[in-house]
Amino acid sequence: VIEKNVDPETMLLPYLRKKLRLTGTKYGCGGGGCGACTVMISRYNPITNRIRHHPANACLIPICSLYGTAVTTVEGIGSTHTRIHPVQERIAKCHGTQCGFCTPGMVMSIYTLLRNHPEPTLDQLTDALGGNLCRCTGYRPIIDACKTFCETSGCCQSKENGVCCLDQGINGLPEFEEGSKTSPKLFAEEEFLPLDPTQELIFPPELMIMAEKQPQRTRVFGSERMMWFSPVTLKELLEFKFKYPQAPVIMGNTSVGPQVKFKGVFHPVIISPDRIEELSVVNHTHNGLTLGAGLSLAQVKDILADVVQKLPEEKTQTYHALLKHLGTLAGSQIRNMASLGGHIISRHPDSDLNPILAVGNCTLNLLSKGKWCSVFLHVPLNCFFQLEFVSAFRQAQRQENALAIVNSGMRVFFGEGHGIIRELSISYGGVGPATICAKNSCQKLIGRHWNEEMLDTACRLVLEEVSLSGSAPGGKVEFKRTLIISFLFKFYLEVSQILKKMDPVHYPSLADKYESALEDLHSKHHCSTLKYQHMGPKQHPEDPIGHPIMHLSGVKHATGEAIYCDDMPPVDQELFLTFVTSSRAHAKIMSIDLSEALSMPGVVDVITAEHLSDVNSFCFFTEAEEFLATDKVFCVGQLVCAVLADSEVQAKRAAKQVKIVYQDLEPLILTIEEAIQHNSFFEPERKLEYGNVDEAFKVVDQILEGEIHMGGQEHFYMETQSMLVVPKGEDQEMDVYVSTQFPKYIQDIVASTLKLPANKVMCHVKRVGGAFGGKAFKTGVFAAVTAFAANKHGRAVRCVLERGEDMLITGGRHPYLGKYKAGFMNDGRILALDMEHYSNAGNSLDESLLVIEMGLLKMDNAYKFPNLRCRGWACRTNLPSNTAFRGFGFPQAGLITESCIMEVAAKCGLSPEKVRMINMYKEIDQTPYKQEINAKNLIQCWRECMAVSSYSLRKAAVEKFNAENYWKKKGLAMVPLKYPVGLGSRAAGQAAALVHIYLDGSVLVTHGGIEMGQGVHTKMIQVVSRELGMPISNVHLRGTSTETVPNANVSGGSVVADLNGLAVKDACQTLLKRLKPIISKNPKGTWKDWNSVSSRGYESDINWEKGEGHPFEYFVYGAACSEVEIDCLTGDHKNIRTDIVMDVGCSINPAIDIGQIEGAFIQGMGLYTIEELNYSPQGVLHTRGPDQYKIPAICDTPTEFHISLLPPSENSNTLYSSKGLGESGVFLGCSVFFAIHDAVSAARRERGLHGPLSLNSPLTPEKIRMACEDKFTKMIPRDEPGSCVPWNVPI
Ligand SMILES: Cc1cc2nc3c(=O)[nH]c(=O)nc-3n(C[C@H](O)[C@H](O)[C@H](O)COP(=O)(O)OP(=O)(O)OC[C@H]3O[C@@H](n4cnc5c(N)ncnc54)[C@H](O)[C@@H]3O)c2cc1C
Ligand code: FES
Ligand code: FES
Repeated sequence: VIEKNVDPETMLLPYLRKKLRLTGTKYGCGGGGCGACTVMISRYNPITNRIRHHPANACLIPICSLYGTAVTTVEGIGSTHTRIHPVQERIAKCHGTQCGFCTPGMVMSIYTLLRNHPEPTLDQLTDALGGNLCRCTGYRPIIDACKTFCETSGCCQSKENGVCCLDQGINGLPEFEEGSKTSPKLFAEEEFLPLDPTQELIFPPELMIMAEKQPQRTRVFGSERMMWFSPVTLKELLEFKFKYPQAPVIMGNTSVGPQVKFKGVFHPVIISPDRIEELSVVNHTHNGLTLGAGLSLAQVKDILADVVQKLPEEKTQTYHALLKHLGTLAGSQIRNMASLGGHIISRHPDSDLNPILAVGNCTLNLLSKGKWCSVFLHVPLNCFFQLEFVSAFRQAQRQENALAIVNSGMRVFFGEGHGIIRELSISYGGVGPATICAKNSCQKLIGRHWNEEMLDTACRLVLEEVSLSGSAPGGKVEFKRTLIISFLFKFYLEVSQILKKMDPVHYPSLADKYESALEDLHSKHHCSTLKYQHMGPKQHPEDPIGHPIMHLSGVKHATGEAIYCDDMPPVDQELFLTFVTSSRAHAKIMSIDLSEALSMPGVVDVITAEHLSDVNSFCFFTEAEEFLATDKVFCVGQLVCAVLADSEVQAKRAAKQVKIVYQDLEPLILTIEEAIQHNSFFEPERKLEYGNVDEAFKVVDQILEGEIHMGGQEHFYMETQSMLVVPKGEDQEMDVYVSTQFPKYIQDIVASTLKLPANKVMCHVKRVGGAFGGKAFKTGVFAAVTAFAANKHGRAVRCVLERGEDMLITGGRHPYLGKYKAGFMNDGRILALDMEHYSNAGNSLDESLLVIEMGLLKMDNAYKFPNLRCRGWACRTNLPSNTAFRGFGFPQAGLITESCIMEVAAKCGLSPEKVRMINMYKEIDQTPYKQEINAKNLIQCWRECMAVSSYSLRKAAVEKFNAENYWKKKGLAMVPLKYPVGLGSRAAGQAAALVHIYLDGSVLVTHGGIEMGQGVHTKMIQVVSRELGMPISNVHLRGTSTETVPNANVSGGSVVADLNGLAVKDACQTLLKRLKPIISKNPKGTWKDWNSVSSRGYESDINWEKGEGHPFEYFVYGAACSEVEIDCLTGDHKNIRTDIVMDVGCSINPAIDIGQIEGAFIQGMGLYTIEELNYSPQGVLHTRGPDQYKIPAICDTPTEFHISLLPPSENSNTLYSSKGLGESGVFLGCSVFFAIHDAVSAARRERGLHGPLSLNSPLTPEKIRMACEDKFTKMIPRDEPGSCVPWNVPI
């Protein structure tokens, strides 16, 4: 590519997508945190004659830095037009794609690794994917695809004693019952294209020649706003730095880039010295190693890994410590971009390496000119002496690719002095504005013996010196204080253990139980088994129903050819729209000054509520929702106005110039408790009652009361809200291309805003990059304003939210407060239950009442409570409005019920599983809303799960482990699932489909469902194929449009395939009926020789007055058993194994169904354990990107993951007796929550704490650590309530 006008502000990602129209590389976050934009960068070094390939995040690479570089994107490695690459083929065929938005990034990460290591280990592969997030799959199928590239694939690769994990099971316990075999794989490995490294793209020879022949000289790029200097010698570098002392020296741009993007920092001059050889030196000397500041962290990791192999361990203590943190620092892309120098100089408060470098006595070599000008050259890393120990510790919200909450480097040197401290250094990250050294404390400890007394003094001194205010940024203050001394304790144990080994006479032994503090939690060997039903011998061999057919778009996802909304080419004269949002949670708008914004280049208009006037709201439920704020704002992030400009960059710049003056209003209601206090609810209250609760309380043995708080959840669909509205210029027609789950709603809201009949507005959805409930009503508001702007100016308008905007504006899953009063017998039978559900709905109604209703209808989960009263309220608060999210109230309601059961079990002295079993529905029973159920399959799932997970044996093993280990605990928990499927109303249970059979015999099918990763289009094609008896290849599906199928319902609620499948089936049968006379005349003919609309629905309803009805069509049953291990000193946890048994009826496509179960389970696990939203006391969302908000990454998948589908046992009136599985699995994630609960309880019992334990969700490292109370949690200073303004408030 020859680019004549290089703008130093342009990053590679927009350049690829907008300029080169290579849209396979995706935008997911813009800050290096999601991996969707991964590309391979290859550089040729003419001095060493070597080519270095590495993965990188295109969103952070300035194009100026790419001169002479080869960039390989997903399009470059293979396509359906030429030949797909084995990586693309395998990820697709192993079912590693659902919505497919993350797939190109995954492909490029794997591809790049294979370029460097054609036969990698599974560890290398999972490491390579550590920086790539996927919100759909749960990663298991991606790991399966990776395994096919490993030398030993298929299982854990642990062949010790000749047995692998599949043979021996966890803890050496059997996996499955005798005779129960796992099913064959969901893909045929033998059909895969071989990986042939000789066939890979070569480095462009012209770039090689250029590198060799062109004289090295300073490069200068410039635009109106910015200059970019790339010197080639140190002298030039110094001169530039001298001339522009404020200019940053950019290496990886992973520190400066996010500051520019997210914090509005602007640098008119940039100096980029990445071609200066001296900055990449690696010098081995007799007393250490000197590393150039320009080396990437990945290179540093490789160099250190190499050195530690060669030198004795005692000499390489710092190297080991650095390696430990380099293994988890960011993802592989960032490690390959970020430089050692940039890392040190940017002085991140949570830098993982600086605390180690600080204690390791590393010095920095600088080159200076003048007082303020210096550049950093090398880090000499010393070798160590005997009896000198260095260690590193860190704890983050997620094990990998997450900034540390606290990290630390510690060093002690004893010299010859038999355990007398000669030197001591302790540094911490995460507890101040930069790395903090506890210098004074260390000084005071010199000369002390290495014993418990010293430890005690050290803890007190360090706590005093590294003091942390109660308002410290990042919150979690008490947790951080605890970590500070917990790490110190770990270091103490670690050193004591080595000293003891070296000199058993002089040093005291560690109690065996204490050794567990030093062991690693994280095992990386992933293994999984899947068990599903086979199609019977009677099924026609060409009938695809029941077969694990690959996602229809799987290969296109993997090649980057799948088109998402923002991948559509620009329309002539297209404009970009960006929103300006409120910075106050409850305020009056005093004035809005648009003048500066409007005067900026490229700005076309700023749309305000005044322009929208009488069309500034839309009412779908009972309360109209305002689009743009008029005179007041009710949450931070509320839309105030929309800037329209020629380009995204111009729109964004102008949006920053809109000046809004506010006057704060009272009250400010953020939390559920505050809403209760102010009686701030959306009406009406909902209530469900069954039996006689008050009477039942009189006869029970015991009564308990409790409550649990559950945090919200961000959808984090990988594709942010996106749309393109195109006025057709004729008859006021408007085409809306949008990423939504609910095209009909978009059509209605746009039509209403433009005062047009619906027949003028057509809404088209090809596919959606994940939605999970967040792309229905929220999308409507954006679409209405975008369409208004398009209509006003008669030009196409595109609106694509940035990740931070999307997270700020769109809300998510409702946080809940559940209060319960349970009356039960001593044998565990719960006879009376009185519950209250409060949800934090935010500032507008949206679907909040429906969520509350569904929560009430589903709160019984798998249990028969003979006397039940449950009431629910949606609280109106000054937060962004919350909305639908996979599971729709059930994950919250279910958790509350299960927590109550846990407490009952604890009071009765029984295991929670026993109490669950005792209270479970019997075979034929009745729900609280008097719908009949047959719970036979529920009980079967439970029993099967008990059996396949070897529950009893493992429970005993867990107890044994806990008795032997003080600082590590294991927990095991099993939860049942009864998930009612149906939308609660007749109107919502309808669907339609349109099937065309063309004269050439090919078939085009359209239906009302949206493809958002759940594979509905694939299933629909399977249905057509069966019904019309034709091969899948004969059937095509273009997408969903209001033009072809009108009035379709929202795609959600697990019923998309059910309802649309029935409609497709009906349509096919109608066609067959019509064609019957022709077919009967020529029965041997083909569809070519032989040459509608249909609808079907579920009839669900509920009468809230009477509290009864038939709201659900059927129930999905299941059970999950999870085992975790926790680190009581840090709060870390690892899901060691999960077994899930699901009753899915007759699966239409087991690969897709298993994918839905796993994906939902992992999303649920995230919800209940690590996903934590943080709001400031002023209602500002802190967590606005993947760096602050952690969804599960590849490191979070259970080490062992086993899924079994129950054999079909009943025929129902659902589509081919199948069941919808989109949502139910989320709840099963709470098995991990309860397993952690079990582990924490074990720790507390051992520490003599026997009272009730109530733990809120998510069970983050902070909550786990603080619940495992011990002498360290007692030692930390606590802040008096009200003594400081906290950084965040629990909402
Ligand atoms: C998604 C993401 C995840 C991350 N996760 C982690 C993590 O888990 N743990 C962690 O510790 N860090 C993490 N980081 C931070 C990362 O380590 C730093 O951003 C990175 O090391 C900075 O290096 P760089 O080369 O990209 O710096 P740049 O952004 O290029 O530069 C940073 C600063 O260093 C200065 N500088 C660079 N080189 C020199 C030189 N030779 N002489 C003088 N000044 C110089 C520049 O002037 C600039 O001010 C993460 C960052 C991102 C984006
Ligand atoms: S878009 Fe680049 S990492 Fe997320
Ligand atoms: S398939 Fe990975 S994000 Fe959807």
